[in-house]
Amino acid sequence: MAEAKISSTDNFFLNGNFSPIAEERDAENMEVQGNIPQDLAGNFLRIGPNPVHIFSEEAYHTFDGDGMIHAIEFTDGSARYRNRFVQTDGYKLEQERGDWVYKGMNSMLDPTPSRVPEGAPSNKNLANTAFAFHNNTLYALHEPSQPTVIRLPGLETEGATDFDGKLRHPFTAHPKVDQKTGEMMTFGYAFQTPFVSYSVINKDGELIHSTPITIEKPVFMHDFAVSEKHTLFLDFPITLDFERAISGGPALDYEESHGARIGVMPRFGTDADVRWFEVKPGVVVHTANAWEEGDEIVLQASRSKTADIVGVGSIPEDKLADTHGQLYQWRINLKTGAITEGPLSKLHCDFTRVNDDYACHQTRFVYGAVFNPKRPFTFDGVMKYDSQSASETTYYYGDSRYGGEAVFAPRVGASAEDDGYLITFVHDEGADQSECVIIDAQDVAAGPVATIVMPFRVPYGFHSGWVGAR
Ligand SMILES: [Fe+2]
Repeated sequence: MAEAKISSTDNFFLNGNFSPIAEERDAENMEVQGNIPQDLAGNFLRIGPNPVHIFSEEAYHTFDGDGMIHAIEFTDGSARYRNRFVQTDGYKLEQERGDWVYKGMNSMLDPTPSRVPEGAPSNKNLANTAFAFHNNTLYALHEPSQPTVIRLPGLETEGATDFDGKLRHPFTAHPKVDQKTGEMMTFGYAFQTPFVSYSVINKDGELIHSTPITIEKPVFMHDFAVSEKHTLFLDFPITLDFERAISGGPALDYEESHGARIGVMPRFGTDADVRWFEVKPGVVVHTANAWEEGDEIVLQASRSKTADIVGVGSIPEDKLADTHGQLYQWRINLKTGAITEGPLSKLHCDFTRVNDDYACHQTRFVYGAVFNPKRPFTFDGVMKYDSQSASETTYYYGDSRYGGEAVFAPRVGASAEDDGYLITFVHDEGADQSECVIIDAQDVAAGPVATIVMPFRVPYGFHSGWVGAR
């Protein structure tokens, strides 16, 4: 069993409900306020960084934590909880040693000699960021690395996969699965050429198409988008610049003069087929969805003015709003080349999601986590945006109560896009009590139909996932 240390530093990500937990546990018959819907069947999953052995508590970055999954399995109105570490090679190596082996992204230049043994990968596949479910397989993802296969419902780690040797590039935390064709589209970015690579995996899990994508300069490209026929790449200006780093600046930073462009390529296209469209500079960390309407491609995403990727957690309050996205839409006319773009909502939100069954096809609704305006990486509530009425509804968790990404879980036998539930973990910081809240997606403002009072603390994390009962 892993042991997490109690932090004595003021590192934002090692304190309060960001701090890791040590135990892997199971729970049943938990206290429930309201009633767990009978037509909710499947696994709610949440993953995030849960560091065990830390090289430097001062320099620790939240992207460096070992992946831990918290899961609730819903059956016939009851719930069963489990949390497990993702047993990656790097995690196991540090468990065997009983101490750190990998130093972390902010400590790369620290002169302390490396402890990475000969033959082990130089970077840790953390498997801590997000999930994909495709070809009946659950993957835990980490964008510089290969996907890690996880078994359901027990959350056992099978290990990393390279798709029979065919995956030769990093694999984003946000691949897109088109449920109509069964295909999973993925990409990876790197800091040496090719800066971007792209692949399609067919419905049977076979990687059948790969191509490099040329961009001028390496950028932080966390997400992309896929419509019915096209794949969209976001060459937006969070650039990697070693000259800037040598002259004392951050290696990874917002560089407005880089501009912003969206590359549009047929799903099975190659580098030469990409058409680039200039758009207004800004930052997109997460997209929501993309689809086609006649000659136009519509892209919806959370977009902010700027971002501070390296310093996240230390941004002063008056600068925070510039780093908080708003739901934004681009219309790209492939015939005329015209771009129409602008915000859809004034609310600051991210972790934008749609009903996964409708991904890559036209959607009416986007769900998002509403930012707290005062503290980084903190979410006050959940919102549902309706493209038809161009308005949103919200539910706020209440004073000192913060949530994470809410995932959409379709009701068994669902008949409409929003026929289902939004599920997320919420933490009451006053009571130091974690909860799992279940909200009817057709009545978000009403708040939870059921709240599971968690017997154990669930730290704040990254992304959520839903795998319906099969
Ligand atoms: Fe993400």
